[in-house]
Amino acid sequence: MKKGLFISIEGPDGSGKSTQISALKNYFEERGVDVLLTREPGGTPISEKIREIILDKNNKEMDYMTEALLYAASRAQHVAQVIKPALTAGKIVICDRFIDSSIAYQGYGRGLGDCVRVINEYAVRGCMPDVTFLLKVDPKVGKERINEDEQDRLEQEKLEFHQRVFAGYIDMEKRFDRIISIDACRSIDEISADIISYIEKIISQRLL
Ligand code: ADP
Ligand code: TYD
Repeated sequence: MKKGLFISIEGPDGSGKSTQISALKNYFEERGVDVLLTREPGGTPISEKIREIILDKNNKEMDYMTEALLYAASRAQHVAQVIKPALTAGKIVICDRFIDSSIAYQGYGRGLGDCVRVINEYAVRGCMPDVTFLLKVDPKVGKERINEDEQDRLEQEKLEFHQRVFAGYIDMEKRFDRIISIDACRSIDEISADIISYIEKIISQRLL
């Protein structure tokens, strides 16, 4: 591969992103391929500090625009310090959430609209995923999979918020070719087999 491969995983809370990322990591490691796993918000010491502020359940007064800008700030640092250097070094980067989460949660969920995409274009400076897997599961099912005591400030939002986020994802899936929709209501093994078959196709096309 001439350059690295940037994979992002998206979907509602509890859709199985972390589970699938660890399956993908095993897949690559069994083949001796070094992968970088990272997540948003987070992925660098500065971004993890921003994550604590955003997700803190006590920050009830946080303005929606502040929230959107904090996610974007965390992402800007993550791209500059971790993602871009890894891709330049030819690595495979697997990121648990990226720009689409902001468009879905802040753009559609909070109702901030298209300015969220624009803010994030400044944050990522052209560093976009090569492929994005959208794990599609009804937000109600996703929410039921997560322990209520462990829910952060965003996860605690009411179901209507999560339905708007999901509608946003469905909308984006139609607009962006890089987004591959995965039925996440199936078994963990069926879902990972599906994702791996897409990855194998992408890698074989790149080697041509
Ligand atoms: P996310 O990272 O998207 O929030 P997780 O991977 O942490 O989701 O999964 C949330 C919970 O749902 C975990 O308890 C996990 O074991 C379970 N889970 C993951 N995938 C599935 C699946 N396909 N079917 C049922 N439960 C699942
Ligand atoms: P995360 O830790 O990925 O939660 P989970 O593993 O349960 O999916 O993300 C924390 C929360 O932040 C999650 O509810 C989604 C939200 N979020 C946004 O609202 N905008 C963003 O840009 C990102 C990256 C996450």
